[in-house]
Amino acid sequence: MKARITILGGDGIGPEVVAEGVRCLRTIASRFGHEFELVEADFGGIAIDRHGDPLPQATLEKCLESDAVLLGAIGGPKWSAPNAKLRPEAGLLRLRRELGVYANLRPVKVLGSLVDASPIKPHVLEGVDLVFVRELTGGIYFGEKRREPLHASDLCEYSVAEVERVTRVAARLAQQRRHKLTSIDKSNVLETSRLWREVVERVVRTEFPDVKLDHMLVDAAAMHLIRRPTDFDVLVTENMFGDILTDEASMLSSSLGMLPSASLGDSRRGLYEPIHGSAPDIAGKGIANPYGTIFSVAMLLRHSLGLTNEAEVLELAATRMIEEGVRTPDIALPGARSYSTHEIGDAIISALTH
Ligand code: IPM
Ligand code: MG
Repeated sequence: MKARITILGGDGIGPEVVAEGVRCLRTIASRFGHEFELVEADFGGIAIDRHGDPLPQATLEKCLESDAVLLGAIGGPKWSAPNAKLRPEAGLLRLRRELGVYANLRPVKVLGSLVDASPIKPHVLEGVDLVFVRELTGGIYFGEKRREPLHASDLCEYSVAEVERVTRVAARLAQQRRHKLTSIDKSNVLETSRLWREVVERVVRTEFPDVKLDHMLVDAAAMHLIRRPTDFDVLVTENMFGDILTDEASMLSSSLGMLPSASLGDSRRGLYEPIHGSAPDIAGKGIANPYGTIFSVAMLLRHSLGLTNEAEVLELAATRMIEEGVRTPDIALPGARSYSTHEIGDAIISALTH
């Protein structure tokens, strides 16, 4: 098949991990006879430096014209002064909104061989296999912001339609899995959460009667995620709660560097990015964990290109390398040598071609 994919390396370790994702994409293309046109563009802090805009019009147009977008990470101390006028993060929020990708899938699966690399006790982790569906284009991250000398505010808003559509994505996903959906809110305090709970309840009861739904308050969810994570199948929640809980959940899988994500909307076009940030402290050292990006590439193959088999082949190759100890320092076995970002790419490519 032919596909056009826009590549946004971004800042910090972004370009390093994306380079390995791109090599995997090229290898999959040649092994399976596909033609992927890969188009690079500036995005984030580097785009502020070069074009005075974290999301230049040319970059946005390339993204809108492609079948999928692969993103590394954005941001860094250079652009994060409290009074900064232009922020890389604002570009990312705008990109998500312009692409209409309102449902952010963040799967967390614990590989047996990584149980010891997690800070959480092995018996709690055994069998963890859950997916977060984070609402991505609404809520407090997008509401009106105000700043006065002695006062600031961020408005949190949700419409019924926004909650309905993300609920449907999560419920459909639950139907393909263990038919269990947990909706997370703060309905004992927030009005948006009361609306959220009502809408999720109605949509699931009327449209997905085979899905078992429960509701959980966000503070309790934060606790249960590390106390009994195997209880969860699909979790759906609003933008900010999803942002926070998925960083927490990444600790189940051993390292923030492991988690991929897919941001989807009503069309097939999606935005794929590891959930880790730009990690400026380790940028340029060649030790960034590329697995989150490589698993994001697999999600891209599956969700935007419909290449299920190719996605599985890539996931299998990456998983095998992790099991064989091909690991960056963040997940390395005690006493074992660790691998560089590029060496991990080499190992996966060799597993894909032999
Ligand atoms: C994430 C990140 C972003 C977010 C930042 C960089 C704006 O933390 O993707 O989780 O808050 O969505
Ligand atoms: Mg985050």
